[in-house]
Amino acid sequence: MHNHLIRKYNIPGPRYTSYPTVPYWDDESVSPEIWKDTVDRAFSESNTDEGISLYIHLPYCESLCTFCGCHKRITKRHSVETPYIDAVLNEWKSYLGLFTATPKIKELHLGGGTPTFFSPDNLKKLIDGIMQHAEIAEEYELGFEAHPNSTTRGHLKTLYDLGFRRCSFGVQDYDPLVQKTINRIQPFERVRQVTEWARETGLTSICHDLVFGLPHQTLENVVDTINKTNQLAPDRLAYYSYAHVPWIKGTGQRGFSEVDLPQNEVKRALYETGKNLFSQLGYEEIGMDHFALKSDSLYQSLINGNLHRNFMGYTASKTRLMIGLGMSAIGDSWYAFAQNEKAVPEYEARANRGELPLFRGHLLSDEDRVVRQHILNIMCHFETTWDKPDSQFPQLAQCLLKLEEMEADGLVEISEHKLTVPESARPFVRNICMAFDLRLMRNAPDSRIFSMTI
Ligand SMILES: C[S@@+](CC[C@H](N)C(=O)[O-])C[C@H]1O[C@@H](n2cnc3c(N)ncnc32)[C@H](O)[C@@H]1O
Ligand code: SF4
Repeated sequence: MHNHLIRKYNIPGPRYTSYPTVPYWDDESVSPEIWKDTVDRAFSESNTDEGISLYIHLPYCESLCTFCGCHKRITKRHSVETPYIDAVLNEWKSYLGLFTATPKIKELHLGGGTPTFFSPDNLKKLIDGIMQHAEIAEEYELGFEAHPNSTTRGHLKTLYDLGFRRCSFGVQDYDPLVQKTINRIQPFERVRQVTEWARETGLTSICHDLVFGLPHQTLENVVDTINKTNQLAPDRLAYYSYAHVPWIKGTGQRGFSEVDLPQNEVKRALYETGKNLFSQLGYEEIGMDHFALKSDSLYQSLINGNLHRNFMGYTASKTRLMIGLGMSAIGDSWYAFAQNEKAVPEYEARANRGELPLFRGHLLSDEDRVVRQHILNIMCHFETTWDKPDSQFPQLAQCLLKLEEMEADGLVEISEHKLTVPESARPFVRNICMAFDLRLMRNAPDSRIFSMTI
């Protein structure tokens, strides 16, 4: 792809893990009562057939990685574990009170922070407490995120026995200077050991998270990291673009400056090199930042048309209702989004009082739902279609007008009823989605709130 296009389109933009994106939520549109109504509606529409998803946020980490953009709390005090798990189980109890039947769990994901900060016994207590009043769907996926430095055989065995078969290890980059700069010393031998343990334990889908665009990262680092990764043959790879958002409270991105970051065409070359290497090694590209072996469920879901994108990124199973438990967790009832308190003390206090500890959300309008579907189609399948004229979506003409320049630049192909993103234009997928983002168009931000698209 030409360098001038990379410079032209490398602008701040959302990653579209939701539409509307979080800064555009209309908090006034949703109250706890409205959220409960939408949960009730989505539950009765979908629990019997597809089941529901659960996302549980476990925020603690022992030390701060200074590139991290996740919601985390840094502490070495493991006494925080028990009260946190009790609060999550109390929050679950509040949801159980809303459900009209036993929930059927299709997907459960433990995210963080670092779920393996918690002891195996506490993770067992958490999952047993959740499952005590739930059943498991016929085809289900239980997965967890893990830091290689804090994951023991005991964690892997306990989670395997509880039904987990999928895990993702944070790897990022193996170069010593990059690791030192992001305050994350993690030798290859350690990652090799936990990956082998995970496989011996019986986990069948192991993902390694890599990041490109980190401070001081070079093309040689990336090639070396990918060659090392290949020796361990993970089933999936996440290859995230480093999101530099130091202005967001709590990210802790520090210790380096923007001049240390590979940018524009240099950053894009890191991506292209990675992508070509992954393809040579037998990985298929899935959506925007994931790669998977053909044997992995993520690739199967792409082929079957079931690939979905939500707050966790790409997932192999789509459900209408996703309940988020834990501090900062976001739930999605298809009709609305709701996010929990971001401060642990407030979260725990409210969950323990039997309240849903929400602090903001958004009720989707009819227009939001149509736009959301187009953005999902583009993010997951690199194409979308429409009826013309489309009574559901009179703003289509406005979106197509926005796309004219991208069409002239070869980033999209548009026919009467269809938009396709050619393979060479995949790096620009966030820009293409922005042409459908009516809320962003109507109200462009006057300060930087999103990371760069490329
Ligand atoms: C919750 S963390 C993973 C689990 C565990 N805490 C660890 O670090 O190994 C999820 C992943 O998000 C990615 N990530 C975190 N901050 C990021 C950023 N600023 N830009 C891009 N990816 C990021 C990293 O690849 C990280 O492994
Ligand atoms: S990258 Fe993982 S371990 Fe590091 S601070 Fe973020 S969540 Fe914690």
